[in-house]
Amino acid sequence: MSDSSASERLFEQARSSMAGGVSHEARYAEPFPKYIARAKGAHKWDEDGTKYIDYAMGSASMLLGHAHPDIVAAISEQATEGVFFADCHATEIEWSRLIQKMVPSAERVRFVGSGTEATMLAIRIGRAYSGKDKILRFEGHYHGWHEFVDLGMKAPYDQPSSLGILPGTVDATVVAAPTIEAVESALKRDGEIGTIICEVSGANYGSVPLPEGFLIALRRLADEYGAVLIFDEVITGFRWSPGGLQARDGIIPDLTTMAKIVTGGMPGGAVGGRAEFMALLDPAFEFEGRRPGVTHKGTFNGNALVAACAVAALTKISTGEPNRQADAAAGKLRDGLRNIMANHQVAGAVYGEASTFHIYLGEGAEDGSVAGLGAAKIRGVDPTVVRGIRGGLRKRGVDLMSHMSGVTSIAHSDEDIDKTLNAFEDTLREMIADDVLGRG
Ligand SMILES: Cc1ncc(COP(=O)(O)O)c(C=O)c1O
Repeated sequence: MSDSSASERLFEQARSSMAGGVSHEARYAEPFPKYIARAKGAHKWDEDGTKYIDYAMGSASMLLGHAHPDIVAAISEQATEGVFFADCHATEIEWSRLIQKMVPSAERVRFVGSGTEATMLAIRIGRAYSGKDKILRFEGHYHGWHEFVDLGMKAPYDQPSSLGILPGTVDATVVAAPTIEAVESALKRDGEIGTIICEVSGANYGSVPLPEGFLIALRRLADEYGAVLIFDEVITGFRWSPGGLQARDGIIPDLTTMAKIVTGGMPGGAVGGRAEFMALLDPAFEFEGRRPGVTHKGTFNGNALVAACAVAALTKISTGEPNRQADAAAGKLRDGLRNIMANHQVAGAVYGEASTFHIYLGEGAEDGSVAGLGAAKIRGVDPTVVRGIRGGLRKRGVDLMSHMSGVTSIAHSDEDIDKTLNAFEDTLREMIADDVLGRG
């Protein structure tokens, strides 16, 4: 349970030394967040010993489950050999070769410190290569927290989400609805757009799915208007398939941003891309009078500890078996959640690709699909209902990732799924009895 006395005490301490008491603002919760002591497989335990079935899985980074023995061994072995040399080393080459083999666009790879750094670097390459300042991005898509991608991250989409954002970066950002028509009209209208970035699942790992055929059209339009196309595969990379959405669907961007699973769940990330774009990072290659054309640094990039963990994880994932297992667990969960909603005549839909699931509670999805509902409706579910689902599951030992969504791993067993479905049914019953949720 989250309302544990240990968590309450720890949060009080945290507030006196950490800004807001947290390291990431999404971890903030009132009256206090839960404090996790350890995690193993599909489970985590808070400081009071309460066990949760985890569907956040390290913000979707743990496809192999928490503390997988191969990962623990790889990290432990590397730790004894030194974690960081600030020099080149062989393991980073092995890591980049695995990515190159799995991710079709990744002819060359550059390691970075996080997903945020990956999108920051990819956009810089896009601007340098195209010679145009403006980027086109989509309403509600998340690409990290830096300046270039702040505008459009959340509604209202014409306002920065934070104070302290340079007006110049706002002026250089065109935010479009994720429709083919909106992209075409933005590109037609604004000749200064040289880079396009897209969360290829649709916003929030597919909570707001993209229209049918959108990415194929995006590739065509980027080519037609000479824009560099970045696929943000920070979540979909290695989750939609071992080579991400692009390997699954055969739609190849110019640049790809990766984090989370690409490191095996350690801090870090990568930009992969076609050789002609990645050449701008090559100190031996002159681009428009500069060597390199695009500057990029970062103390811990590609460090040996993360590289060793990543090689262990990606070697397993490259077989395709982890994706099959995690996808099967999510499929079973989605079917079960859908049946429970139907049995209790609750209006809405359960959907999601690969090893993800999303619950929508509301009208307009009578055919079982949220296609055409739009972000405002899907993400605009009454907060009391969202809190009811999240809180109801939490107190029954099930932790979602964000909103009413989550991800699975290879460690989620049939027993975990059955327990989750029971917790969901009890939560719905309680919400119906309390009149928080109506019947459709
Ligand atoms: C699609 C996407 N891009 C970028 C990021 C930013 O990654 P990081 O949190 O590692 O900076 C995230 C993080 O959730 C993400 O989901």
